[in-house]
Amino acid sequence: METIGIGVVGAGRIAVGYHLPALAAVKGARLVGVADVAPGRAEEIARRFGFEHALTDYRRLLERPDVHAICLLTQYETHREVILAAADAGKHVFTQKPLTGSAAEGEEIVRAVRRAGIRLVTSFMHNYFPETRVVKRLLGDGAIGRLQFLRQRNATHNSYARAVELRGATWDIGPHGIGMIQHLTGARIVRVQAMMDVFNKPPAERDVNDGRPVDTLAVMNYTLSDGRLVNHEVQWTAEAGTLAWNTELFGECGGILLRPHTGEGLVALSQRPPDSEVWAGRGERRSRWEHLPVEPEQPRGLFHHQLFVDDVRFDRYESASPEDGLATLRVLEAAYRSAAEGSAVDIAYCPKSQVPSPKSKDDRCPALDLGLGTWDSRLLSA
Ligand SMILES: NC(=O)c1ccc[n+]([C@@H]2O[C@H](COP(=O)([O-])OP(=O)(O)OC[C@H]3O[C@@H](n4cnc5c(N)ncnc54)[C@H](O)[C@@H]3O)[C@@H](O)[C@H]2O)c1
Repeated sequence: METIGIGVVGAGRIAVGYHLPALAAVKGARLVGVADVAPGRAEEIARRFGFEHALTDYRRLLERPDVHAICLLTQYETHREVILAAADAGKHVFTQKPLTGSAAEGEEIVRAVRRAGIRLVTSFMHNYFPETRVVKRLLGDGAIGRLQFLRQRNATHNSYARAVELRGATWDIGPHGIGMIQHLTGARIVRVQAMMDVFNKPPAERDVNDGRPVDTLAVMNYTLSDGRLVNHEVQWTAEAGTLAWNTELFGECGGILLRPHTGEGLVALSQRPPDSEVWAGRGERRSRWEHLPVEPEQPRGLFHHQLFVDDVRFDRYESASPEDGLATLRVLEAAYRSAAEGSAVDIAYCPKSQVPSPKSKDDRCPALDLGLGTWDSRLLSA
């Protein structure tokens, strides 16, 4: 299809700050309608970004034959209802994170979209920024050899009240790091060991949201499906000027810093002889960091949105799969359980042979857990 029709559901802060400028700039998409329950909001957004229709009820968008896909940019509490309705109407969905409020709901959603044969992409925006694509390409080219360890940090400064409102820091910003780890390593997280805190408040004074204490700080260790280890820090106590969001990757013959501490550029690479050579006395183990050029994209998020639109236009499967969003929910739930129980929590996988292919509407896989077997085919090479 040369041009597809897009409907947007929910036009708040992230819609205006990230998605709408990118959607207005992508090729092959017509902005058919925007729906928002807040009075006057849809009209204002339609005027500003060039939508043809402004609505309050998202179901009116789903009824339209000229809408092929929706961008769901509301809080996660509304996602289940809207995605199930979109699946019923045969519309593809690009949704803000987290996919929904629990892994059980996530499984219900994945089954529904598989049955309907629609695409469902959870927006892990950091995976598609130009700097991340440079890192992904370096890893694919073997620039640091086999990846041995990854350290991920997601930090911001935010209030305790906001943590209570948003269910905790890990629930709110953790999905980005989890999505990034699984994207860059091409593996799933299968074991989680987490410790959490909330601004040093004693447990008795902590608020509870959805049956568990909210957190503002989490340190998590993961085991990946191929046995590698990862460390992930989530925190809302970042001081101004410290690094908020970065990834460090260490391989058998070098390292990559994504958004390095030096502040010089967005990607730094260090290459050296492999350990086996160094230990045999044939080369130095010194790191020499080189900052690599990263072509900025304008507007931010253009690549990410174009990828989804082109998947729908050309019947491709280059974007993330429904299972990617579900996998993140599994890790979040395992993290909260691990922190509460004080022990590591394993995440069950569907055996590779039983995972339906991305093109399949089949939902016979008994667990439909994480789609491990479909992951490799969807890694980005761009
Ligand atoms: N990726 C990021 O960096 C990032 C940053 C901020 C927020 N988010 C995520 O984006 C989502 C939205 O966050 P936000 O800050 O834009 O919230 P927001 O409250 O500013 O916007 C949500 C909008 O959805 C509308 N809405 C609510 N229910 C609706 C319904 N049933 N139908 C139509 N419209 C409806 C609201 O009126 C509001 O305008 C959240 O899930 C949040 O986690 C992501």
